[in-house]
Amino acid sequence: MDQMIIRGGKPLHGKIHISGAKNATLPLLTACLLTDEALVLSNVPQLADIATMGNLLGQHGAAIALQAGEGGFGHTMTLHAKTITSTTAPYDLVRQMRASILVLGPLLARCREAKVSLPGGCAIGTRPVDLHIAALEKMGAVITIEDGYIHAAAPQGLKGAEITFPMVTVTGTENILMAATLAKGETILNNAAREPEVGDLAQCLVKMGAEIEGIGTDCLRIQGKDRLHGANHTVIADRIEAGTFAMAAAITNGDLELIGARMDGLKSVFDLLAKAGVVAEKTADGIRVRRATEKLIGVDVMTEPFPGFPTDLQAQMMALMAVADGAAMITETIFENRFMHVPELARMGANITVHGSSAMIRGVKKLKGAPVMATDLRASVSLVLAGLAAEGETTLSRLYHLDRGYERLEEKLSACGADIRRVKKVG
Ligand code: EPZ
Repeated sequence: MDQMIIRGGKPLHGKIHISGAKNATLPLLTACLLTDEALVLSNVPQLADIATMGNLLGQHGAAIALQAGEGGFGHTMTLHAKTITSTTAPYDLVRQMRASILVLGPLLARCREAKVSLPGGCAIGTRPVDLHIAALEKMGAVITIEDGYIHAAAPQGLKGAEITFPMVTVTGTENILMAATLAKGETILNNAAREPEVGDLAQCLVKMGAEIEGIGTDCLRIQGKDRLHGANHTVIADRIEAGTFAMAAAITNGDLELIGARMDGLKSVFDLLAKAGVVAEKTADGIRVRRATEKLIGVDVMTEPFPGFPTDLQAQMMALMAVADGAAMITETIFENRFMHVPELARMGANITVHGSSAMIRGVKKLKGAPVMATDLRASVSLVLAGLAAEGETTLSRLYHLDRGYERLEEKLSACGADIRRVKKVG
């Protein structure tokens, strides 16, 4: 089991390449199931979750070729599901990554049947898929749950329907959006997720011949087609990675240029960081981030669906607020158990008290390095941020959580002056 060893106190300076977005790539990969032609995706990040999705799609019958990008970033993946050889997504693959549920809509739309393992919960919550299932049933699918699997069938094919999500669901929106592209007639999705990653998927589907109106809004209108064709698409930059590195610049009192980052997906984040004393400026190649004031200022945060503050940056913001001047109240409204990083940050000297879905953080002068444990993807990177600012040495274990969503993290950080290295722990 690898470990990350960080010696804190070094301000980060320089440029960091922002990779393609994990949460855009995952649905884009499953879109290959919607056509018997080749889908070519560029700017694909090399992450554990992407490899897991590739394995899943491969066992459905997709031929996958990977071509490394220059400088080792931005790979090109060609996916060709000429025929679907299996409509079953097995538990041993699905349990590794919840986003596997994204094959359900495409398989049902193309093959009129699917057997997909229920994903099971994860550290941050139960994360049911009832909204995905209810929407597909409205489109004519007959769905039963047996032995931990979703058994779905639509012998006459899916038909368009008007669907209103009772709560915003990102992969729920993506699953139904993909299913609707091959359904008979029109589908209207109300209260659709507006995350930029949903928009990126929609843009790719349009290139594949889909007819979608309202991209970027909370109401998507899709006219179903008989078939989709292949396409070439470039994955958008990862706004969560960009937001994470913006906070790395702030917490170390450094000055970073985030190459490839775009302001439009991070407006709520940068507005809040400005109140906390952090300035972000658009540059020709991305976004430059540094402190505007000597001290960071505690600010209140509430996570919300896009365009609100993203839940995927909540843990990172908490690490930043742990060393700010004053208090910050962070309220997590999306997931019921996304404070797993709190006890680990407390081990480093952070002063945090949790009251239900809110955490009160009282800034301290300095955090102290300590051995800490990753529990989920974003919690693990918040501990890296804390380690970068802490006095002394931080050892982070269970790095497999980190490797799911951050491409060559230690390489990117050490190139900007961080004292961070990965060591293989024997046994
Ligand atoms: C996506 O997860 C992201 N994953 C998550 O990123 C992200 O945190 C989340 O959206 C919220 O932005 C991918 O895009 C692959 P939801 P998703 O459906 O789609 C409840 C990361 O760190 N809900 O928007 O699974 C659910 O329990 C990951 O990169 C239902 O009740 O999230 C949650 O409370 C973590 N029933 C809320 O809705 C359903 O059928 C939002 O979940 C679906 C969701």
